[in-house]
Amino acid sequence: MPRVTYRLPDGRDCEVELSNGQSLMEGAIRNGIGAILGECGGSAMCATCHVYIEGGPVGALPSMCDDEDAMLEEAAAERLGNSRLSCQIRMNAALDGIVVRVPEEM
Ligand code: FES
Repeated sequence: MPRVTYRLPDGRDCEVELSNGQSLMEGAIRNGIGAILGECGGSAMCATCHVYIEGGPVGALPSMCDDEDAMLEEAAAERLGNSRLSCQIRMNAALDGIVVRVPEEM
């Protein structure tokens, strides 16, 4: 199964395996990574799953849709060039080794 590393606000790295098709937001919640909230359930309507892509196979990421782009403007933490909504990224083999940093504010 493809692996993702969540870089947590306290500086710890947490590497977990996710099922194909599971979003990075769902994977965080199922693995007890409480820093990602996912309040809207993955509908790109809350930005409480905001992450920064920090490494790994970034070229394999899906392109950003208009809804995600608009919602990132509402995120509590500063939007950067590597900002994404983790609910909009579904794991697959090509994303094995992706690294995301969780902002302090959600
Ligand atoms: S879970 Fe709400 S925008 Fe991702």
